[in-house]
Amino acid sequence: MATSQRKILVTSALPYANGPIHLGHMLEYIQTDIWSRYQKLRGHECHYICADDAHGTPIMLKAQQLGIAPEDMIAQVNKEHQQDFADFNIAFDNYHSTHSDENRVLASDIYLKLRANGYIKSKSISQLFDPEKSMFLPDRFVKGTCPKCKSPDQYGDNCDACGATYSPTELINPKSAVSGATPVMKDTEHFFFDLPAFEGMLKEWTRSGALQVEMANKLDEWFEQGLQQWDITRDAPYFGFEIPDAPGKYFYVWLDAPIGYMGSFKNLCDKRPELSFEEFWGKDSTAEVYHFIGKDIVYFHSLFWPAMLHGSGYRQPNSVYAHGYVTVNGAKMSKSKGTFIKARTYLDHLDPEYLRYYYAAKLSSRIDDLDLNLEDFAQRVNSDLVGKLVNLASRTAGFITKRFDGKLAKINDTTLTEAFLAKQEVIAEFYEGREYGKAMREIMALADIANGFVADAAPWQMVKHDDQQEAAHQVCSNALNLFRILVTYLKPVLPRLAQDVEAFFQLPLTWNALNQDLAGHEIAPFKAMMQRVELDKVNAMVADSKDNLQVTADAPKTAAPEKTVESSNVSSEPLVNDPISETINFDDFAKIDLRIARIVKAEHVADADKLLKLQLDIGGETRQVFAGIKSAYSPEDLEGKLTVMVANLAPRKMRFGMSEGMVLAAGPGGSDLWILEPHEGAQPGMRVK
Ligand code: MSP
Ligand code: ZN
Repeated sequence: MATSQRKILVTSALPYANGPIHLGHMLEYIQTDIWSRYQKLRGHECHYICADDAHGTPIMLKAQQLGIAPEDMIAQVNKEHQQDFADFNIAFDNYHSTHSDENRVLASDIYLKLRANGYIKSKSISQLFDPEKSMFLPDRFVKGTCPKCKSPDQYGDNCDACGATYSPTELINPKSAVSGATPVMKDTEHFFFDLPAFEGMLKEWTRSGALQVEMANKLDEWFEQGLQQWDITRDAPYFGFEIPDAPGKYFYVWLDAPIGYMGSFKNLCDKRPELSFEEFWGKDSTAEVYHFIGKDIVYFHSLFWPAMLHGSGYRQPNSVYAHGYVTVNGAKMSKSKGTFIKARTYLDHLDPEYLRYYYAAKLSSRIDDLDLNLEDFAQRVNSDLVGKLVNLASRTAGFITKRFDGKLAKINDTTLTEAFLAKQEVIAEFYEGREYGKAMREIMALADIANGFVADAAPWQMVKHDDQQEAAHQVCSNALNLFRILVTYLKPVLPRLAQDVEAFFQLPLTWNALNQDLAGHEIAPFKAMMQRVELDKVNAMVADSKDNLQVTADAPKTAAPEKTVESSNVSSEPLVNDPISETINFDDFAKIDLRIARIVKAEHVADADKLLKLQLDIGGETRQVFAGIKSAYSPEDLEGKLTVMVANLAPRKMRFGMSEGMVLAAGPGGSDLWILEPHEGAQPGMRVK
């Protein structure tokens, strides 16, 4: 079992410094943190490095919008990110910023080496330019009508409506998303990184067997399509590092972002003199380097990054491990549904260990997406962690304290102990191979066995009989020892629980001490270690996430200013059984004027994903209402139907016209949404009481 000590450097992708950390991001930081904690638990030297990704146009514009210097904005966001991570028990060894001296020096140095080695080409290109803002426009900052399907208001790189991809110059009637001005074409000199020169090296790296199968296949596709020169230049104004010998030209954010892994490590080396930068990044390094990333940034990490390293005389990473995307309740995280949940909002309501466990239980080494189903989440955590794991201790520890002086017995029958210890290799392999879900299943199967053992022995019965005291002492000591083994196995996933359990056993939990004999060892009195997940709190978190709608920054990679979210006239339902909201008094209720309405006309609204335009007859008066029920009804199904409307809601001006009231509907949303349909016989205009 004794393995020689490995030297490992592990990273998570560097989050953009213009938005908050959300539960999608957290999958990656939790996945990496578990791996890094596991390596440390096995006694390896492992450094977990991260930083904020602080450069680029979206960050520059966001700071402008806020009216503050980008330096101040990124400093503030850095603080918030670090606090979020700390509160999720993500144990970085260093957290830095790409906007740092270390990174500036390394980026320039790598660029100059690439240039000296002939891998930088310069070429004049023609690009859309915003004459009002005096800036070149990235694709996502140009909007216009799709050249294929003619949908208006599409981004410069692809069409949301028909999926076509094109270049921003093909857009019909293009406009700058920054100023609204019509962009003009302008020439500019750009530097390119010669990616095609690295094809041979990259193919070899792909075939080294260290990559996930899906990733290697993806790379093969890209090789087939042919590698392209990579534009690494952005013109001023830009927030980033100026390119050496090229005033007014800046490194594209994706050039210095991965170098940020090195920059952060360099920063750590400067704080810890026993660490050697060269030992980890030098060409002949025998240390191991792994990058954990999401599936959306594979191209940067598996092509540009290893090529840049190779071309400038550094080592390549041992591997790049990609994970899938988090969905919530089966759908993309959505601000309007309250499933775009910020890390901070989660922490305001729930214990971080719950999410760490849930993600671990669902993670594999593959790139599949992972669904955070909130009901399943609550159920799984309650059943596994509270019901199986902690329960083992909570129903046996009290007897040790009260009846046996707090001391554990020498265990006579070690069959179970041995069976539990025999699983350590397979559990270790699952952690090493990022098959956390399989590891959790092994561990919970053991917890089932331990609980069965306690239930069969029923020490709470034994203690009532004078002649069974010794037997009760045996059962409880045995159960607690099994509990200790299980929590040691879970320590990378549940560091806070492990800490409480260490205090309870008055012992550190380490892999090497798994087979420790606890005969005669004194334990501390048992204290509650984990609360059940309460659905109320889950619901409150979702409700809070809806409230946050306005302040939440858009997901960083969409980069462009937020798309206007169409306000739906039907509020979406909570995800888990909705608790009844706070009470209102009768006067409040009496103010709501509900009327029977007949839908005389229903039609589609050009440009609106969710809305139908309704003409409602409420007895001699016709109202126009925009209702967010397009996902559930076609206009022709609605015409002639009776429904209920709020008739005295203040009229609201929408992008498409006035909305003069609201129709009532029920259901979780999507196609499961039903307008309220009164019995025939009710007449338009009748008051609903
Ligand atoms: N700044 C770049 C990474 C530079 S690394 C040299 C970036 N930042 S990000 O903030 O958009 O994303 C950070 C990480 O979180 C990425 O690996 C990304 O894939 C991951 N995720 C962001 N949203 C996610 C989900 N909804 N689900 C899972 N991971 C997600 O990309
Ligand atoms: Zn289109």
